[in-house]
Amino acid sequence: MPMTDETKEDLISVDPASVADDQLSELPQASPHIHETRKFPDGFLWGTATAAHQVEGGNVNCDWCRWEQAGHVLRGQVSGQACDQFNRYEEDFDLAAELGNNAHRLSIEWARIEPEDGRFDQEAILHYRRVLEALRKRGLSPMVTLWHFTLPQWFADRGGWEWSGAVSRFARYSEKMAEELGDLIDLWVTINEPMIYLGQSYGTGVWPPGKKGIWRVLRVFSRLVRAHRASYDRLHRQLDRDGYRARVGIAKNVVTYEPYRRYSELDSVFIRLADRLFNHQFFIWTRGKHDFIGVNYYFHYRIRYRPTKISSFFHEVHTENREVSDLGWEINPDGMFDTLMSMSRYGLPVYVTENGIASADDGKRPRALVSMVKEIYHAIKAGVDVRGYYHWSLLDNFEWEKGYDGKFGLVAVDFRNQQRQPRRSYYVYQDICRENGIRHDLLRFLGHGVRW
Ligand code: NOJ
Repeated sequence: MPMTDETKEDLISVDPASVADDQLSELPQASPHIHETRKFPDGFLWGTATAAHQVEGGNVNCDWCRWEQAGHVLRGQVSGQACDQFNRYEEDFDLAAELGNNAHRLSIEWARIEPEDGRFDQEAILHYRRVLEALRKRGLSPMVTLWHFTLPQWFADRGGWEWSGAVSRFARYSEKMAEELGDLIDLWVTINEPMIYLGQSYGTGVWPPGKKGIWRVLRVFSRLVRAHRASYDRLHRQLDRDGYRARVGIAKNVVTYEPYRRYSELDSVFIRLADRLFNHQFFIWTRGKHDFIGVNYYFHYRIRYRPTKISSFFHEVHTENREVSDLGWEINPDGMFDTLMSMSRYGLPVYVTENGIASADDGKRPRALVSMVKEIYHAIKAGVDVRGYYHWSLLDNFEWEKGYDGKFGLVAVDFRNQQRQPRRSYYVYQDICRENGIRHDLLRFLGHGVRW
């Protein structure tokens, strides 16, 4: 059940005198004065997130490149030069530093690092060394994803994650990255959004390899579970040996669900099942192999159970009377709070590894951004150990099957000439990052609808 803001404020403003001594240590701090800046814990990480294929450009040796060439992306778009970040990373990291960030999430492109089975490209490794050094030089702590949806062509040709050699190859690549780049990386993400990948690539089939089928889904799920476990172990083995403190996890897309028909038992049972399957199953199968919980939060689904709708896994998502982004995704900041509360069950530090909205005119982004960050603040006050927030994304970029139609950037990119233009939300986020908190003025400036 979503909490109201009032309930959340109640939660953080309990009178300590009314509480027994042994409960005191569990009490959140008292509520600040209404006009005070809502401060985040010292050392909180403020960043943005990106992924190699979506921003680098020229990534031609992977499964997505062929998929694009075959015309599977909206209106036949291809990623092409993307944001040309392969060449422009210095300029882009300047923008991130200017934003007041102290962290950045990016991914390493496996297809560049290992262009053929077992052959590691030293030039490519050197490139990522320079990229990571450029981040560190600017005081941006790197969080690195090893696999963010794109597979090397040779790996895809052998069956991708259905191939029996998949897990050992991913483990080998992980270990190599620890060996080569371990001195520069603070936080490691083995796999990005395993359940979304399963749904898109083997469920609806809109991503490569586009092979549908429940048995494939189960096989690939089990491979991804084993791939994460193996990668976790290899990273730790190598990094511990080299004397680095390894912190390894995944970035898990978490969906908050709500029954469409309030009094429908069917809708309620379905959402409990969906929550367990989609949000928790991967963590359950990889228990003990996470040093933190990474959460990508984008989706709040108001669900109506429809046993006849096989094509959409027996449900419809409704957004009538709700605020939505350019892609039609509901903007639901309460869901951020609920997600963080729910993820605290694992007893590990939590990072919001992604969150953002598509808004080409930037109209809805400033408010959405502040509301989401405000919910993180409330979750911290309610006792969740949230350590960082990475906004998706720094720049407009290649949004998979939607091509360049989803504009997620704090900075707009003109893809004809690669010009970068910060949007208004860039300065809103800058205010938050520089303050390490939310100034009261910021809420007022955003007008109606955003309150403590
Ligand atoms: C999460 C994915 O990790 C990222 O690649 C994608 O662009 C964003 N969601 C927005 O859809």
